[in-house]
Amino acid sequence: MKKLIGIISIALLITLTSFMSGCTSSNIFNYIVDDSYTDYIVMGTSADYPPYEWPMNVEGTQTLVGIDIQIGLAIAAELGMNLQVVNKGFDFLLDDLSKGKVDFVIAGMTPTDERAEIVDFSMVYYEAHQVILTTLENQDNYASIEDLNLNTIRIGAQMGSIQLDLAEDTFPDSQKVYLQAVPDLIMKLSQGLIEAVLLEQPVAEGYLTNVEGLAVLEFEIGEPDGGSAVAVEKGNTELLATINAVLEDLINSGALDIIVSEAILLNSGE
Ligand code: ARG
Repeated sequence: MKKLIGIISIALLITLTSFMSGCTSSNIFNYIVDDSYTDYIVMGTSADYPPYEWPMNVEGTQTLVGIDIQIGLAIAAELGMNLQVVNKGFDFLLDDLSKGKVDFVIAGMTPTDERAEIVDFSMVYYEAHQVILTTLENQDNYASIEDLNLNTIRIGAQMGSIQLDLAEDTFPDSQKVYLQAVPDLIMKLSQGLIEAVLLEQPVAEGYLTNVEGLAVLEFEIGEPDGGSAVAVEKGNTELLATINAVLEDLINSGALDIIVSEAILLNSGE
């Protein structure tokens, strides 16, 4: 695990571009961890979820950045491999993993019991609450769940996400709008085509910074202690043990805190 901390600090100091050899097709991104490594470990993600992962043009090259990409890089470094990231709709990720198309998934994914029947999860690396994103204009009209649980209200959530289930459970009387990509939900919210979007708090706060006219409602919904974990194919205990060791190291060394704050800063345009 010694080389890990070295690699992480290098990653943080030298910026993301040093790992990047660019994009080989529109949804595949290669990151060179070390020139001497010949093999790639393949990570699946859904890059529509800043600060977890999102697309960004870094010094003229289109790439993916964020907390989960940095974790993927740390895992690849520990394995002595370069990293290939496959970017897909969130609702495709577990299927890709079960079919062996990717080696692991990191996508701000919450380890639910239902998912744990299909894949195995690492420890939780980052905890976040669920919040409701709405517009500044509507903010004062929604003081409680009841104010939104009406058939005139349209609630948005991402397809395949826990927020979709949360929308079903919390707002049975509302209309639902389920889309594949989170930015499309935000666009509909801004255009007044839906009234609220369910998201993890750091994601909602990122959009607050980047999109004018939005607001996060005060009251919380769902499980307070939700979090994200890395998923591997069921039974891949060897890879899971390495991933857990990397996560433990990132958490205990404080490197993950730095990764999180850097990703939040990067997403806010600083
Ligand atoms: N945490 C939620 C879930 O596991 C949402 C994750 C969405 N992630 C993404 N990359 N779009 O269902």
